[in-house]
Amino acid sequence: MEQTLVLVKPDGVKKNLIGDIIARFEHKGLQVAALKLVKVTEAQAKFHYAEHEGKPFFGELVDFITSAPLVCAVIRGENAIKAVRQLNGATNPIEAVPGSIRGDFALSIGENIVHGSDSPEAAEREINNFFAPEEIY
Ligand code: TYD
Ligand code: MG
Repeated sequence: MEQTLVLVKPDGVKKNLIGDIIARFEHKGLQVAALKLVKVTEAQAKFHYAEHEGKPFFGELVDFITSAPLVCAVIRGENAIKAVRQLNGATNPIEAVPGSIRGDFALSIGENIVHGSDSPEAAEREINNFFAPEEIY
């Protein structure tokens, strides 16, 4: 069993897509192990996206992710990390296939609706940045 961190980013919350997005993971057979709505702090955002620090889009990315509440979730199941990223679709929504979350609901790379951790190490780090152990069931 794997665990991964999912974010329904502020654009997904504003577009009333929380339920639709979480449903994709549930329909796949993955479990919701933790779920909440939060307004991310700048420090939390910078830690979450630390691997991208120094890149040209970093400032806008941090501004965007801290701009309004988002939904964070721990999603659990067999191969959860890869399964979630497959369901999310390519980073650039214009390359994401129809049927994927980004393929169906997003148009621009800066506002691509959803996040999924990309490795077990990233998942552990990212989950700890959003949840206390007792919040995960
Ligand atoms: P990345 O980790 O490469 O993508 P993913 O979310 O699929 O793991 O990038 C993190 C986020 O940064 C991405 O979801 C959207 C944003 N981003 C840009 O705004 N411009 C870019 O050129 C890239 C690569 C990412
Ligand atoms: Mg990434």
